[in-house]
Amino acid sequence: MPALPSPRRLLVTGGCGFIGSNFVRFWLHRHPESRVVVYDRLTYAGRRENLTGLWGHPGLSLVVGDIADQAAVRGACQENGTDLIVNFAAESHVDRSILGPLAFTDTNVRGTQVLLEVARELGLRLHHVSTDEVYGDIPEGRRSEETSPLSPRSPYAASKAAADHLVGAYHVTYGLPVTITRGANTVGPYQHPEKALPLFSTNALLGEPLPLYGDGLQRRDYTHVGDHCRGIETVLLRGESGQVYNVGTGEEITNREMARIVLETLGGNQGLVRHVADRPGHDRRYAMNVDKLRALGWEPGCGPREAVARAARWYAANRWWWEPIRGGEFRSYYRRQYAHRLTGDAGVPSPDVSGGE
Ligand code: TYD
Repeated sequence: MPALPSPRRLLVTGGCGFIGSNFVRFWLHRHPESRVVVYDRLTYAGRRENLTGLWGHPGLSLVVGDIADQAAVRGACQENGTDLIVNFAAESHVDRSILGPLAFTDTNVRGTQVLLEVARELGLRLHHVSTDEVYGDIPEGRRSEETSPLSPRSPYAASKAAADHLVGAYHVTYGLPVTITRGANTVGPYQHPEKALPLFSTNALLGEPLPLYGDGLQRRDYTHVGDHCRGIETVLLRGESGQVYNVGTGEEITNREMARIVLETLGGNQGLVRHVADRPGHDRRYAMNVDKLRALGWEPGCGPREAVARAARWYAANRWWWEPIRGGEFRSYYRRQYAHRLTGDAGVPSPDVSGGE
């Protein structure tokens, strides 16, 4: 099957979030002639500051809106002559999905379906950014292939798996041109400090304990966001419609090793690591085979150890970015998520009935 036509006018949903903002920066650098409309609800994790230095670029504009608002998405696409929607918008933190799961279904499932509806109405191509978590816990010795069954185990992973199924169904049923990437644990600049790597890095820089869940021997394929963005670009330029592509380094390290590298890189005391109560339903291992993306000419630029060290260094050099975040809503979230863990009470945090934030 021939590759899809090269996109010129992109609507990037979640373009002020972590991977989305890195992608916008990367795409405009590599394709300065193209036009990018960032469509973002600007939630706690979607911040204008994530695109610092790019505002004013002639190829970039911002529409503030919710992906679940069909009229608003349609309007943004029509006004800008969009030919491709790239969907990064999602509630993405597993621990928040345990505290308040409904927000995850609203945005990740219904929101994705609204984007599919708009793409169908206007005849647009859609690329959906998904995660290796949809494959569930992978036993030692095995790797998820793109055709492996989906077996999500957290509310977050279940919402992403549901969205992946909808994207596939719209391709089969309506012939919509779609592609999906499933990324490994991604690390790098502008990741909200609630996630493990920026949390451990910023705690290390503040001399606070690093809360390592359970025995810390869970394995993750920590992948640098630059490699992830390049993987998505490869699929946008050379991927085949209706296909899924895994994006990762193809190698895993334990969370214990990740914490050790962070402390070593930042000159922190290894004694800051605290083993705390585990996450309920915590998947032990994610591991993907990434040969299908390699076959399109992509290679990861670094393995998980270097990805972790590079990311940690960014937090050391960019306190201006994370210090205000850690001073805001983050504090009450941190108390809710960690106070009982760090004081030795191994219970599960109380549910948050107000939603995901
Ligand atoms: P995270 O960044 O939340 O990504 P995900 O859960 O989507 O994989 O967590 C990465 C790993 O680090 C995961 O195995 C959970 C673990 N973790 C901790 O040990 N302590 C923490 O405080 C957090 C947030 C995560």
